[in-house]
Amino acid sequence: MNESTWRFACPECKQPLSQEPSETARLHCAGCGEGYAKEDGIWRFITEPRLEPFHRFLGDYVNIRLAEGRGSDSADYYLKLPDCDPRHPIAWQWQLRQKTFARFRSKVLPELPNSAKLLDVGAGVGWFSHRLGQDGCEMCAVDVCVDDKDGLAAARHYQPDWPRVQAEFDRLPFADASVDGVVFNASFHYSTDPVTTLCESMRVLRDGGVIVILESPIYRHEHSGRQMVEQRHQDFARRFGTRSDSLDSIQFLTWSGLQVLASQLNLTWRIDKPWYGWRWAARPWKAKLMRRREPSQFAILTACVNVKHSD
Ligand SMILES: C[S@@+](CC[C@H](N)C(=O)[O-])C[C@H]1O[C@@H](n2cnc3c(N)ncnc32)[C@H](O)[C@@H]1O
Repeated sequence: MNESTWRFACPECKQPLSQEPSETARLHCAGCGEGYAKEDGIWRFITEPRLEPFHRFLGDYVNIRLAEGRGSDSADYYLKLPDCDPRHPIAWQWQLRQKTFARFRSKVLPELPNSAKLLDVGAGVGWFSHRLGQDGCEMCAVDVCVDDKDGLAAARHYQPDWPRVQAEFDRLPFADASVDGVVFNASFHYSTDPVTTLCESMRVLRDGGVIVILESPIYRHEHSGRQMVEQRHQDFARRFGTRSDSLDSIQFLTWSGLQVLASQLNLTWRIDKPWYGWRWAARPWKAKLMRRREPSQFAILTACVNVKHSD
């Protein structure tokens, strides 16, 4: 389970990358001449002009998340995830996430090949890669964020033998048909263009591979999602002095939008709803009674993809 089993490709032109034996921390593209370096244990696959539009997003995003209580100076915090001290300010979120993760392990994981090669896309600190690596999967953590406490640099606490890769959803630095699964854990709704993001995932998937989306909010009605987004931006502006809206992310999914994506991209969604308890299940009824906005739902969406790669 190490880096050499991953077939890296140029995110710009998709040509295979090569390495000089004397330069183990550098990959070179013979196609477009671009070079990519490994710094502080993280492969940097985003060129500076491509990284530029993310700077403001990442500044706002990390500040807000740290202010909300994510991240820690203690390795123990990271090693426990998704378990979390019940006194933690967002322990309630991690309690839901533990349930999603348990369901993923019992329902989705057994259907993947042994030692499945999985991309953890939008991996954040890499806790999911760490846990699935322990389960025998071959992981690679991908994220645009390399922050020390909330991004890929925090994965140092796991002393990972899996690669960490700074790259974009829509420009994955991997060869065509080279992985068994692409998992978006609490990250797909950051996509700015779901068709492009899914097509890029499909490109790197082997035939029969799967795309799994976890922890992205889903609504019945588009206007409910829009309302949630506006409420969030206003809340951020009030609490942190920024709306944190510099990236044009979709921010939520709708059931009907998922069906449109399925027919556009010729894929089928398998929908699995983890059980989060009676209080959670009663939220839509309570909202109706109180004439409040429809609450989000969370499901594990597995796209079974039949990809035809030309040889
Ligand atoms: C809410 S976090 C989820 C982190 C982690 N998967 C987890 O379960 O805790 C979403 C992550 O998606 C990353 N992200 C957002 N847009 C991205 C993009 N276009 N390409 C790569 N990563 C992106 C963010 O940097 C962030 O780390």
